[in-house]
Amino acid sequence: MIARLPCPGPARYPATMRSHLSPIDRLAYTASQAARFGWFYSQYRRAQRRITPVVRKEQLRDSGPSTSELLSALFALFRRDMKNIEAGRYAMPPDMWPRPGRVLGVNRRFFRDLQTVDRRRQAGAGDEVFRKLRDSDPPYPRYFLQNFHFQSDGYLSADSADLYDYQVEILFSGGADAMRRQALVPLAEFMNGRPAATTQLVDIGCGTGRFLRLASDAQPLLRMTGLDLSPPYLDRARRSLRGRRAVRFMTGNAEQLPFPDASVDVVSNIFLFHELPARVRTNVVREMARVLRPGGLVLHVDTIQKGDEARFDQLLDFFPRAYHEPYFADYVASDLEALYGEAGLTARTHTNAFLSKVSVFAKPA
Ligand SMILES: C[S@@+](CC[C@H](N)C(=O)[O-])C[C@H]1O[C@@H](n2cnc3c(N)ncnc32)[C@H](O)[C@@H]1O
Repeated sequence: MIARLPCPGPARYPATMRSHLSPIDRLAYTASQAARFGWFYSQYRRAQRRITPVVRKEQLRDSGPSTSELLSALFALFRRDMKNIEAGRYAMPPDMWPRPGRVLGVNRRFFRDLQTVDRRRQAGAGDEVFRKLRDSDPPYPRYFLQNFHFQSDGYLSADSADLYDYQVEILFSGGADAMRRQALVPLAEFMNGRPAATTQLVDIGCGTGRFLRLASDAQPLLRMTGLDLSPPYLDRARRSLRGRRAVRFMTGNAEQLPFPDASVDVVSNIFLFHELPARVRTNVVREMARVLRPGGLVLHVDTIQKGDEARFDQLLDFFPRAYHEPYFADYVASDLEALYGEAGLTARTHTNAFLSKVSVFAKPA
């Protein structure tokens, strides 16, 4: 069981950030978040009707949380998100209103792919990626060569990178970015009074760059590097952050970070650890501890763990069965403080946000 530590107290934020929202800003946030939620939730329901259930609906209803419990936790996240924006902890997301042309196109591709995903799910086929590997492919770690979420091509195609963010938003009914944004609160605290242009953040397992995009909106001058094993996901990240000169990307393995000892101020990892075997998690934490400067921070965002929100424990049991997540059950039962503690990093705060948890660890100064 993970110990609860106090949430971070109020912090002072850079003067460039607004500390209040006008009534029009509030309305814009509420309307755009409501539209996002309405869209993604309706598409989630539509997707559920088109796939073969993994467990019978009644079974989940009897043992799992109710829809209203889940939705009220999601709405609490949106309320907190708006309060953070209001307090100037991060800026209003500029892309809350998705472009209809792009959304309809990606939605069509999502539903076209869903039939294949469902066939894979019914067959329990989570290692197609490994079986399709060619001799010319780079020597990826074996655990990585899986169809996580039963997704087509795993993390290794442009088509998969094109669908990934959309799939995640559907899964969380439009709450995925708001969960990622919660890591910007401890980042704002850390940045308070520091020169952004000489501060380095590395986001490991950055995927298509969603977190870096949000972090760059909040801290435009902060030097940021996104690192991932997947070349197609990195291509997409580069396109999505084109023109942001403080951000760069590298192909690499988080188990062997290509940075000197004590050279990085903040390392973030967002929705990465639940997809890593325990031995890899240990290696990655050791690497983060090595590259961090004394006083540096790890921002760790991932699923809530067993016992964090007892009412959602059943959901944590169900999820890896429906979405091919071979290391999820082990991750949600693991002791994060012990894992980081062995590498010399100490826990500062743990903050639950809907189905995620933001944990902050520090390297002693
Ligand atoms: C679930 S996705 C999370 C992506 C992103 N951080 C987000 O917020 O959605 C996991 C990502 O970690 C990457 N990954 C997995 N193992 C890795 C490793 N050892 N080193 C670097 N990246 C890795 C995958 O390619 C994938 O992009």
